[in-house]
Amino acid sequence: MPDDLQQLDEAARSAAASFQARGLTADETTLALLFSEARTHYGWQQRDVTDETLQALYEIAKMGPTSMNQQPMRVVFVRSDQAKDRLEPALLPGNVPKMRQAPVTAILAYDLNFWESLPELFPPNPDAQNIFKNDATAAQVNAFRNGTLQGAYFMLAARAVGLDVGAMSGFDNAKVDEEFFHGTSLKSNFLVNLGYADTSKIFRRLPRLDYDRVCETI
Ligand SMILES: Cc1cc2nc3c(=O)[nH]c(=O)nc-3n(C[C@H](O)[C@H](O)[C@H](O)COP(=O)(O)O)c2cc1C
Repeated sequence: MPDDLQQLDEAARSAAASFQARGLTADETTLALLFSEARTHYGWQQRDVTDETLQALYEIAKMGPTSMNQQPMRVVFVRSDQAKDRLEPALLPGNVPKMRQAPVTAILAYDLNFWESLPELFPPNPDAQNIFKNDATAAQVNAFRNGTLQGAYFMLAARAVGLDVGAMSGFDNAKVDEEFFHGTSLKSNFLVNLGYADTSKIFRRLPRLDYDRVCETI
């Protein structure tokens, strides 16, 4: 391995050891912001979301891990009335007002050709792209798995920068793909309304499954 790469690895190990030694855990406020108090929102204040906030969101979300550092998620921020008009016909009727009211609706997509970037994104294995180049199923499975993971990071990052979030999968993916991604290797995954919530529109919190029902240690 070249000396400069070895030095980078050593610096990364030293930074990780220092970070680990700090023994950090999330405080109550952070947990509330991201999980315990945060809610899914359906109504929105007429308050804009700036480009800077959307960029800050992405800068956080991009750091979440993906297999082989694939990063297949792609995002279209739908903000203008004209763009909302294009999105509307694909939505289930109940989701239309939620999307129309939100200052921004993100189309979270994944790129089936994510593997084209692997020489840049995963240099430890220069042949990594060959795994997916001739195997459309492996490409689809990996793009969907890791694109969905990135979608979850995206929602939590949005909360971290002070935005409220309302995800929606109630829409026709084929229609969105035809309208926004025709002739490309992108496929829509789900939508995320972003903004500052009108809290009067939420419902009671629904139950979560208990640890014992979900987890086992063997
Ligand atoms: C991927 C995803 C898709 C969803 N699709 C819809 C949808 O189409 N319409 C809707 O009103 N809510 C939708 N929801 C909202 C969920 O029902 C809601 O997040 C869940 O009940 C938890 O609510 P809470 O975060 O307030 O506890 C979706 C949520 C997720 C994460």
